Amino acid sequence: MSSPKKIRKAVFPVAGLGTRFLPATKSVPKEMLTVVDKPVIQYVVDEAREAGIEHLIFVTGRNKAVIEDYFDAQVELYHTLEQRGKLQDLEHLQNIQPQPGTTSFTRQQEPLGLGHAVWCARELVGDEPFALLLPDMVMQSKRGCLAEMVELYEQTQNNIIAVQECHPEEAHKYGIVGRGEDVAHGFKINQMVEKPAKGTAPSNLYINGRYILQPEIFKLLQNQERGAGGEIQLTDAMLKLAELQEFYGFRYEGRTFDCGSKEGFIEANVAFALSRADIRPNIESNLNMLIKEIKLSS
Ligand code: UTP
Repeated sequence: MSSPKKIRKAVFPVAGLGTRFLPATKSVPKEMLTVVDKPVIQYVVDEAREAGIEHLIFVTGRNKAVIEDYFDAQVELYHTLEQRGKLQDLEHLQNIQPQPGTTSFTRQQEPLGLGHAVWCARELVGDEPFALLLPDMVMQSKRGCLAEMVELYEQTQNNIIAVQECHPEEAHKYGIVGRGEDVAHGFKINQMVEKPAKGTAPSNLYINGRYILQPEIFKLLQNQERGAGGEIQLTDAMLKLAELQEFYGFRYEGRTFDCGSKEGFIEANVAFALSRADIRPNIESNLNMLIKEIKLSS
């Protein structure tokens, strides 16, 4: 097997309307809502950089310009922090600042679905395999999900999808894969179904929002007709690609929070706060007290 092409680029589709977070998302993109003290999008970008990604491609939409501003250098702010002696804050901001020329932004002019958003990145990705990270899905583990996927990709090449176990009763809410033979620290995917009817799912392994895809997906997306909800579905194009190329599953063992939903977003805030040594003691005792008080009064 020839050595695989390095995964250098990652696509972040951030053009969704975020209707589950109205009214907040009338003016603030859901990717900019904060989990403890970082916007949701920063967690996902950190995961990509840990995996060796060199170029960040954002597919944005109307009302999302603030995401581009966030990744820009804030020279005046850096200067003020320096003058005030806040050197730790300054160093942190400079460390997370993408280098010039390593971010690209393109617009999905109409929210026609995830598949369409990915297709909008075709010129920026070009003819090479790429990572796709859904920014709603924020992950918590020692080692990033994408870093582990890249390791698997180096052994299998082709396409990789990260999956996690869900309760069998919940399988109808997700994209589900069927599990074939084990390969390296993953397995061959032998089926893919988007939101299977109750009781028909081939497994309880759901697609958790991280992918490594070959560029041939773009041609399939280009010709993809609208599917469920009148949107261009990524899963429909992946099913076609699976007729031509292998797909492997990577089973992620960490925590995933769906920050596109209110429950997931709140849970992420609690989980990340409790894993921070500087704020954990206060948060823990205050939360316990709050839960007791609310239980007593209801
Ligand atoms: P969601 O299914 O969460 O949709 O998209 P949404 O519009 O963002 O949010 P709700 O359901 O109205 O609350 C999953 C991912 O696909 C992106 C979203 O930004 C999110 O990262 N997406 C979705 C697009 O980029 N464009 C689209 O047309 C649809």
